[in-house]
Amino acid sequence: MPLSDQSLARAEELIARYPQRRSALLPILFLLQAEDGYVSPAGVAQVASLLGLTRAEVGAVATFYTMFRRRPVGKYLVSVCKTLSCQLRGSRDISAALTERLGVPLGGTDQSGMVTVEEVECLAACDGAPVVQVNTENYERLTVQEALRLVEALLRDEVPPPTFAADGSVTEPSTAALHWRLAGLGEPPERPEGSGEPRGGAPVDPEGSGEPRGGAPVDREGSGEPRGGAPVDREGSGEPRGGAPVDQGPGEEDQ
Ligand code: FES
Repeated sequence: MPLSDQSLARAEELIARYPQRRSALLPILFLLQAEDGYVSPAGVAQVASLLGLTRAEVGAVATFYTMFRRRPVGKYLVSVCKTLSCQLRGSRDISAALTERLGVPLGGTDQSGMVTVEEVECLAACDGAPVVQVNTENYERLTVQEALRLVEALLRDEVPPPTFAADGSVTEPSTAALHWRLAGLGEPPERPEGSGEPRGGAPVDPEGSGEPRGGAPVDREGSGEPRGGAPVDREGSGEPRGGAPVDQGPGEEDQ
């Protein structure tokens, strides 16, 4: 089943916070994504059974909110803003270059399972156009070459510092860690949870050690320090950049 026995126990903790089981639907969908990488049809069925809902009811919620994924997503979700300010500043060229580099269409994940690339609507950082977001981090005013270097770093499992990172901001180095936190389970564990099987397009936990798939969280300090790699090369400027809005993405196909 998509949710392991351990996650089912955590789901019961979440359910206990609400007067009705069905009220825990959103956090449990995030828990499902943290473990399985996406909301699969099997996951929908399991959550429906768990909460006493129909599969149609769970599917309707999962397809309404763009933060729920209907296809496997990689460790790093690269979201290129396609709204007016960014488009006028060349974001479509960026998304075209990234899909070509990764060899996937928009919404696709590269063969290694590390990077998913998509286009999204306004990321609310229009002064930084064109904006590219990685999980919860913004990389602003990127050229095509800078965006390509950013993705090369992600493919090496290195996360360059974002454009801005305020003190105390919470940053997530992987989609799994992000979804864990959004489930309301607090600080993500150091290492991924699960059996170690490659599911949901997320990287595999080789030890099956009990962390969310998609990678271990690293920097909790929001210090803006480089996490796991060198900064994006700003053509010699060496400026760190970034911000920390929210994961967005297309609601993909209905089930
Ligand atoms: S138009 Fe791209 S961030 Fe607003």
